[in-house]
Amino acid sequence: MYYDDVMESASFVRSRCNRTPALGIILGSGLGALVDSMEDRVFIPYADIPHFPASDIAGHEDRLVFGRIGNTEIVAMQGRFHYYEGFTMQQLVFPVYVLKTLGIRDLIITNACGGINGSFRPGDMMIIEDYINTLGNNPLVGPNDERFGVRFPDMSEAYSKELISFAEDTASEAGVIPRKGVYALFPGPCYETAAEIRALRAIGADAVGMSTVPETIAANYLGLRVLGIACVTNMATGIAKEKHSHEQVVAVANRISDDLTGWVAAMIKKWKIQ
Ligand code: HPA
Repeated sequence: MYYDDVMESASFVRSRCNRTPALGIILGSGLGALVDSMEDRVFIPYADIPHFPASDIAGHEDRLVFGRIGNTEIVAMQGRFHYYEGFTMQQLVFPVYVLKTLGIRDLIITNACGGINGSFRPGDMMIIEDYINTLGNNPLVGPNDERFGVRFPDMSEAYSKELISFAEDTASEAGVIPRKGVYALFPGPCYETAAEIRALRAIGADAVGMSTVPETIAANYLGLRVLGIACVTNMATGIAKEKHSHEQVVAVANRISDDLTGWVAAMIKKWKIQ
């Protein structure tokens, strides 16, 4: 069922834009500016694509954007799906299967997050080295379809070491000083309590957010290399002096967006598809 739906979505997308992207990018809340750096763009609203989930979060455009940066053909997701919107884990990773079917080999995933590591500051960008899934749920739960991947996928390199070094090398050229650390997925939609943040810090998290991990799991399962970049829009509960608001998160994300775009565009120009 899932397989047929994925194939149907992919054929529809191909009927609108018959290009083979090598790299996929998922753009987090307020982080859509990269789309302006793409050439020869084709936009496909999610609402047009059969079987695609539909989201209604402020700050999300909700469309696929095909285009090129340098010689690299890319497809960006401007707007992503979250567990807290009520999607099943399987629904919210559906687009990753479609992008893989369209041809992508690597996936960059960006997000807005809260900083837990005391040396982080709002405005920082963190290369994700590893994740902690606190959800007690996983997008691969259910019968396995061997046409996509194996029953028990390895996650020892959920974020490609090669891509992490590449991102670090490119950062200095783009004038960016990135952080590195572990991203913890929290279900949301409420922000964490101060006690939860202390607990997350104790188990090794440097940052917390409500996305990215499901897509990372699905992408690894599908054999894609993943690079994750978490943009620190605020310090987490109990560390921050003020209360959180989504408007504030999006406003800071918008400010970080230019730095992120410069860095990611510099990477894409030199990207070596495996
Ligand atoms: N917690 C969870 N998700 C977030 C945060 C946070 O503090 N900031 C941005 N996304």
